[in-house]
Amino acid sequence: MSVLITGVRPYGEGGQVELLLRDGVIAEIGAELVRPGDVQVIEAPGAVLLPGFVDLHTHLREPGGEDAETVETGSAAAALGGFTAVFAMPNTDPVADNAVVVEHVRNRGEKVGLVDVHPVGAVTVGLRGQRLAEMGTMAASWAGVRMFSDDGRCVHDPLLMRRALEYATALDVVIAQHAEDPRLTDGAQAHEGAVAARLGLAGWPASAEETIVARDCALARDAGARLHVCHVSSARTVEVLRAAKAAGIEVSAEVTPHHLLLTDARLTSYDPVNKVNPPLRTGSDTATMRQALADGVIDCLATDHAPHPAQAKDCEWAAARPGMLGLQTALSVLVHTMVEPGMLDWRGVARVLSERPAEIAGLPDQGRPIAVGEPATLTVVDPDAQWTVRGARLASLASNTPYEGMRLPAQVVATVLRGRVTARDGKIVERSGELAARGEGVRG
Ligand code: DOR
Ligand code: ZN
Repeated sequence: MSVLITGVRPYGEGGQVELLLRDGVIAEIGAELVRPGDVQVIEAPGAVLLPGFVDLHTHLREPGGEDAETVETGSAAAALGGFTAVFAMPNTDPVADNAVVVEHVRNRGEKVGLVDVHPVGAVTVGLRGQRLAEMGTMAASWAGVRMFSDDGRCVHDPLLMRRALEYATALDVVIAQHAEDPRLTDGAQAHEGAVAARLGLAGWPASAEETIVARDCALARDAGARLHVCHVSSARTVEVLRAAKAAGIEVSAEVTPHHLLLTDARLTSYDPVNKVNPPLRTGSDTATMRQALADGVIDCLATDHAPHPAQAKDCEWAAARPGMLGLQTALSVLVHTMVEPGMLDWRGVARVLSERPAEIAGLPDQGRPIAVGEPATLTVVDPDAQWTVRGARLASLASNTPYEGMRLPAQVVATVLRGRVTARDGKIVERSGELAARGEGVRG
């Protein structure tokens, strides 16, 4: 069956048009198209049409963490959030440090079929930072791993990182570094600054991030490798990235929605929902993150969607696990922090949520232009909608959202993956075409 989308403005520009999607591609674009007989119509007057979103940093928790999330629930959250591809981090149990586990994750993603699930391979065996994992085998496997990371942990040993980058060059893959010098953050509980001092929480200095990024840029330069920096949180790291890019080093970087919006001022509640790694920093850091994303020093938005079961969050601060949900709120937080204030237009949203992440990960059929003949992998956004975040209603198994009760702008009307509607009006569309409530979608 083909799909007709009406009333949309590609990239939020120009007048309203109709698109006919057939056989997985955009077949026609025009003011008023002839409707074929067997067609599913999505009427979205005034909506913004964007290429499907790509998340370079998702924790799906499967295998081993199915009390927090599964490939199925995480894929549903992703589709409802407008995503058509996600990169699943390897800090699972067992760790995704070999071909068997990455193939399993990719296979689960295909079975669920709501988004393209790309497994990220571990850089070191067991994420232990001692021995390189079999990157070549994972890259050559059916899973076709394109990105490697020990996320959750830093690849700290500089020689090991150097070797990983050399292999990355040979395999034409990218290393995504969780930049945190563990010697500087031993026991850390919060951003090192006035708030942590007042609350008596051990500090996580911004320099623990800045120094690893500076080191890794030098190592990437020597190896001729592509380095990607996960979840940049500190203003000083932005200056390191700016200099490295100016020097021609192939480094890219992401920022999370929460590091655009939330600050360590929230920690006074001692609510572990605000505990995340790297930690929430200061208002001056969030302002710098927004500016850097606008001017391209930071390439893309990535959710670091990190579901945790209630017992890992409903406890005292020091015992709580770090991480927050992100897939269903990412677009809204980006619109709230950057589109509404005029720092980013919808072209810019397409760049940071779709085009750049697809380029960084080397995905040929995502982040494509909206044009006839291109893949029908699209996200329809109502820019004028407002909604109230309720963790219990999100599709994730976990409900650790820091935005609980917040009213946020912009909603995903529909998500389309290669011509198949995966989410519509806050509900998942099963392969049969049936609408299915997962959580209750994002509406309400
Ligand atoms: O807050 C975080 N949670 N940061 C990480 O680096 C890992 C993640 C997780 O796996 O929960
Ligand atoms: Zn991380």
